[in-house]
Amino acid sequence: MNTAHKGRILVTGGAGYIGSHTVVALLEAGYEPLLLDNFANSSPSVLERLHTLTGQSITCLEADCTQTDAVLERLRPLHVAIPFAGIIHFAAYKAVGESMARPLEYYHNNLGAMTSVLRWMEELGISLLVFSSSCTVYGQPEALPVSESAPMQPASSPYGHTKQMCEQMIGDFVRANPSCAAVLLRYFNPIGAHPSALLGELPLGRPNNLVPYLTQAAAGWIPPLTVFGTDYPTPDGTAVRDYIHVCDLARGHVQALDYLAHKPGICQAINLGASEGVSVRQLIDTFTAATGAPVPHQTGPRRAGDVAQVYADTTLATQLLGWQPQFSLADALRHAWAWQQQLPETSRP
Ligand SMILES: NC(=O)c1ccc[n+]([C@@H]2O[C@H](COP(=O)([O-])OP(=O)(O)OC[C@H]3O[C@@H](n4cnc5c(N)ncnc54)[C@H](O)[C@@H]3O)[C@@H](O)[C@H]2O)c1
Repeated sequence: MNTAHKGRILVTGGAGYIGSHTVVALLEAGYEPLLLDNFANSSPSVLERLHTLTGQSITCLEADCTQTDAVLERLRPLHVAIPFAGIIHFAAYKAVGESMARPLEYYHNNLGAMTSVLRWMEELGISLLVFSSSCTVYGQPEALPVSESAPMQPASSPYGHTKQMCEQMIGDFVRANPSCAAVLLRYFNPIGAHPSALLGELPLGRPNNLVPYLTQAAAGWIPPLTVFGTDYPTPDGTAVRDYIHVCDLARGHVQALDYLAHKPGICQAINLGASEGVSVRQLIDTFTAATGAPVPHQTGPRRAGDVAQVYADTTLATQLLGWQPQFSLADALRHAWAWQQQLPETSRP
């Protein structure tokens, strides 16, 4: 690990899937992450695994981001002791289907947490922000690959709306506070796990995302995977997405912080994806070729709200951040399988 000290970074939602991998990348790059999480969708045991992996003890504030003032008063003395150079804001609810059923919870949590983060920046004088946005802000784009200049389409879910609204809030905030700067990282589909198999994605309950569902189905933990839609206008009829290894994504956050250090007043959206469209069928075949494990699956009708295909133009990430993915799709699926295989039976949904 690089021990040079580049500054302390507040990582909201840092115990979650992408947050925990980003904590490792921050430490490797010489930043000092301080986590803030209420464990709504994660477990404190991730802190022990981070310790095992990095050899460093990680500080985590157990707190709810929506409690703006109470958390501010806990952050203030920490900031006085060692100032926060920036914030990476992951904390949010993220299940599209659940957001349709429980929209108010999504608006309350995702917009409430966003408001708090911006308030903390204002009150404490923290100038850099990296925000977890999503390709859902594009809806079904008119042209592919989709670049950051593509017009936003109406989001297909309350979750998508919260990402669009958070982006607007950050834009307005930076305009009013030009000494601040932000990068809105629009993730495509993060998959995989840390190569050590010490960190990975463990959804509470039955997985919503394709790869954790696939690995749990391959392990026989849950019923066969349903491939939703086989009549899309794509080469094999199944939906096409852009899958990015979570460690590559994590590194993108560090590079975004480095980039922001000398860019006051900027609010820049940047895609992070593999720039490659992969169909559900291709994903299943690549998984079996990479791991030798068959995936029990069946086909079903299209799911409401799913777009046919979306994949990223990542030219800007390369130009501005010097970022490029290093892991292949097969690597990501092998790592996801290694993670699945070490999970104890007690993790079974
Ligand atoms: N995983 C994906 O497919 C994906 C794709 C695009 C964008 N994103 C965004 O990336 C971010 C991280 O996603 P993830 O996959 O790591 O999700 P995750 O659920 O694993 O991590 C989110 C973390 O935030 C915490 N959290 C939620 N609300 C909180 C609150 N009010 N206060 C404190 N902590 C809170 C949860 O406990 C969890 O640890 C989210 O903003 C998500 O919307 C994820």
